[in-house]
Amino acid sequence: MSDKLIDVVDNAGVVRLTITRPKALNALNSAVIAELDTVLDDLESRNDLRAVLITGDGEKSFVAGADIAEMRGKSPEQARAFAGQALRTLKRLETLPVPVVALVNGFCLGGGCELALACDWAVASDNAIFGQPEVGLGVIPGFGGTQRLPRRVGPAMAIDLVTTGRKIDAAEALRIGLVNRVMPQAELEAYAEELTKQLSGNGPEAVRGAKQAVHDGLDQDLDSALALETALFAFCFAGEEQTEGMSAFVEKRKPNF
Ligand code: CAA
Repeated sequence: MSDKLIDVVDNAGVVRLTITRPKALNALNSAVIAELDTVLDDLESRNDLRAVLITGDGEKSFVAGADIAEMRGKSPEQARAFAGQALRTLKRLETLPVPVVALVNGFCLGGGCELALACDWAVASDNAIFGQPEVGLGVIPGFGGTQRLPRRVGPAMAIDLVTTGRKIDAAEALRIGLVNRVMPQAELEAYAEELTKQLSGNGPEAVRGAKQAVHDGLDQDLDSALALETALFAFCFAGEEQTEGMSAFVEKRKPNF
């Protein structure tokens, strides 16, 4: 592993980002957030991007939160700037036009849980631990947890988690819908490979359109959102992917996207 804070590996447009501060359990300090922002400059400009996977280095932790040692001496203005930068970066990650998946390999606390929430979905190792323990440090979540967590798991469970600060295991995270799947840590790698294969076999523009329809539709009333879906569905018929995908089905062969 290099001395970078974000290791980037590209496998045919499926880009895997690994946060590499294992000595601090991959805690998010300003330098990690700035480097993620720079990586996003590149990812946003790529037409060949298929998906982004994000994980933490080592076997113990995905991300154990925002960096407490760095935050400790901050003034309210500095805290606002720190959270503001992280929120902008997580928003950029969330709004990438391709699926963004968190591979949660251990502790997923505070800012780490907020990072996972900014991803489209998360899969976790069975030893992963989740939580928003900020209240135990005398603060509230600052990287979007009070807003994205209720949208993912509902307000009652979100208020439970952000006010008690209790930690939950992977089984409970699965039960409340915080993660999509749980598996032994050794299988996360195989999952990443399988996902890469699956996404690479689909029409890339269709995958982008499907994500866009879900994301943009959630902010609209149902009728407007359904109209958006119709517009995006019709738009698929203007490109080559639809011709290739449907011809391949009729001709009983694999599509070549
Ligand atoms: N920030 C900075 N350093 C951290 C860190 C964090 N969030 N989490 C862990 N570390 C560091 C520890 O200080 C320790 O460093 P040293 O070896 O130099 O002492 C190293 O990582 C290993 O950690 P531990 O020795 O504590 O490991 P452990 O196995 O005993 O405990 C843990 C693991 C339960 C995750 C514990 O480290 C822990 O509770 N970490 C903090 C979790 C937390 O409160 N996160 C929320 C942060 S606030 C936040 O995120 C605000 C926000 O929303 C923006």
